[in-house]
Amino acid sequence: MSLPKRVVLVGPMGAGKSTIGRMLARELGYRFLDSDRIIEERCGANIPWIFDVEGEDGFRQRETAMLSELAGEAETVLATGGGAVMRPENHPLLKQDAVVIYLRTSIEQQVERTRKDRNRPLLQNDDPEGVLRRLFAIRDPLYTELADIIMYTDRKSPRLVVRQLVNRLNPKTPRQQRQVRKEGRNHV
Ligand code: S3P
Repeated sequence: MSLPKRVVLVGPMGAGKSTIGRMLARELGYRFLDSDRIIEERCGANIPWIFDVEGEDGFRQRETAMLSELAGEAETVLATGGGAVMRPENHPLLKQDAVVIYLRTSIEQQVERTRKDRNRPLLQNDDPEGVLRRLFAIRDPLYTELADIIMYTDRKSPRLVVRQLVNRLNPKTPRQQRQVRKEGRNHV
């Protein structure tokens, strides 16, 4: 089995897309891309500023343009923003030549991992947990539908997640290959 042309990570805020993406890229010898960070670099401003000045709509336009540009980048691991699945026109851009991995994470873990964060405008309010729950209800079916692989990340170190993903993407031993066939499309 050969490696996919590119790997795309989707999932909610706090799923570990950037941390895991960076480590996975290193393991595969691929380039790591983080769409939010590249949007910030291009714009010369951070995401809270973009939301403030251009609104969420302005940010989503930038996001779609970025996903379109990055869809052509071979040998890359792309970490996307949690809302990248919200626009239907993004779906073919996410799937293009890619294995899409959904990093599935409990609300509790999302809350814990985003608790001190000030860079996520959607969570700067009195009830970030309620927001995460509402977003999960809407987005989990979209992540699931798009995913080639669903990887649970709760109570796993990033290292373990990356090891399991590498096995999934490029199983080397006959035992690993049997395991992957047994698991079918999804769920590690
Ligand atoms: C968002 C998630 C963020 C960022 C923006 C909006 C969302 O990315 O794109 O704040 O709608 O869930 P992360 O998932 O990397 O935090």
